[in-house]
Amino acid sequence: MLVLGIESSCDETSVAVIRDGKEVLANIILSQNEHSKFGGVVPEVASRTHLKTIIPIYEEALEKASVTLSEIDLIAATMGPGLVGPLLVGLTFAKGLAYANSIPFVGVNHMEGHLSANYLTHDDLDAHHLSLIVSGGHTMLLEVKSFGEYELLGNTKDDAAGEAYDKVAKIMGLGYPGGAVLDKLAQDGDSSYMKFPRAMIHDKSYMFSYSGLKTAVSLHIKSLSDDDFKHNKANIAASFQEAAIEVLVEKTLRAAKEKQISHIAFAGGVAANSRIRSMFSERIRGNQKVFYPPISLCTDNAAMIATAGYFRYKKDGPSELITNAVPYLKMV
Ligand code: KG4
Ligand code: ZN
Repeated sequence: MLVLGIESSCDETSVAVIRDGKEVLANIILSQNEHSKFGGVVPEVASRTHLKTIIPIYEEALEKASVTLSEIDLIAATMGPGLVGPLLVGLTFAKGLAYANSIPFVGVNHMEGHLSANYLTHDDLDAHHLSLIVSGGHTMLLEVKSFGEYELLGNTKDDAAGEAYDKVAKIMGLGYPGGAVLDKLAQDGDSSYMKFPRAMIHDKSYMFSYSGLKTAVSLHIKSLSDDDFKHNKANIAASFQEAAIEVLVEKTLRAAKEKQISHIAFAGGVAANSRIRSMFSERIRGNQKVFYPPISLCTDNAAMIATAGYFRYKKDGPSELITNAVPYLKMV
């Protein structure tokens, strides 16, 4: 079954063609860099850029996959959560294509898309597993019983982990979005330079909190002279990173132990982080196994949306063409 996937929930315009939820024939991603000068995503600019780029990207995806629209069996598009204008561009384009060509359509939850990036890459992931989804807008720990059957164990009380990365990167003058740049800088630093707070690490719940960490880093930077800041940039990045990642890893491993679940998958933009990967590998024990997508499938992309669409369609059939964008769409 050939699925055309469309993603436009924030500042990536992406179109993919996937065979049977597993094989990536094309996954074209355009990251809009119009936003960096504003220090964050400007919804109106994002919508207009999606409008300008979606058709050329769609054409490029079909060409790269060497397929024509008449061969596509299903069209899947992100319907939420995300920015309403950007969502509407991809969703309306997808529904129009589906209607005009009598192809079934399915609306996809963006977070289920992130989760599905692991289905796309790992055949050996147990149906019953833990999924930690960490992105610019979400920090969610889920017990996945099977595709579509989720129990929310915890999420963030305030900022998402990726948001904390972006804010700290901005304070440090690393640009926007700063997660990947901060990660790279941290690799040259000493994480024992400063013990920043690990919020809620000893709390019995699986809730997270990132606003205090961001404030602690900001206050520390303000206390330094320009010279001290310059000399310790990598150390600050490494110390922040260690605190941000340790809470994620510790709480996920505690949930895995308490619930006796051995397969742990993580996804979303922050899953691209080098330290989350190394810390999980250092701390897993016994029969525990960690799964994560390749970096290109961690950050927003349409391949994960096509895969989620494939599994959703198999479970529930097509969505109606009146499906609308839902900016705060929930997963559970
Ligand atoms: O999943 P994603 O592409 O978009 C959302 O759905 O939000 O995640 C983007 C987030 C941004 O906050 C970005 O800074 C962060 O993922 N990110 C990283 C890394 N690469 C991207 N954070 C930490 N380390 C990275 N290597
Ligand atoms: Zn995302």
